[in-house]
Amino acid sequence: MTPAREALTTAAREAAASAYAPYSRFPVGAALAFADGTLVTGANVENASYGLSLCAETVAAAKALSEGGRGGTRGGLVAVAVVGPDRTLTPCGRCRQVLAELARLGGTDPLVWCGEDGPELRLSELLPHAFGPGSLG
Ligand code: THU
Repeated sequence: MTPAREALTTAAREAAASAYAPYSRFPVGAALAFADGTLVTGANVENASYGLSLCAETVAAAKALSEGGRGGTRGGLVAVAVVGPDRTLTPCGRCRQVLAELARLGGTDPLVWCGEDGPELRLSELLPHAFGPGSLG
């Protein structure tokens, strides 16, 4: 089951309130929806050693994998919502790769809702020709 964009975006917006972003002052929230109805959220977590900072989508994906049964797939990742200070916010390149690994586990190509009113894209549109386990030979 795929939730409405508004519902998943609301979950992402609420997650952004828990962001730890004292350096960028750019709080981001992400919400992942799975086929079994589970929602998993995350917020960006920064560090005084700036390069160690984690994006909201990566935090959410790590939570889903580490807390979820069946390898965290929960029937497959069907949609992702990301919310930040900008009305449109597309996941960074690293997060696209992290989400692609999670989606592949459940065999889905999730919708990605980019910000409050940004584009709706498939993850495969955001990350075509993705590197994956098959690439390792
Ligand atoms: N950020 C995310 O959480 N997700 C993205 O897709 C883009 C950027 C965070 C990282 C950093 O904490 C802040 O936004 C500014 O780049």
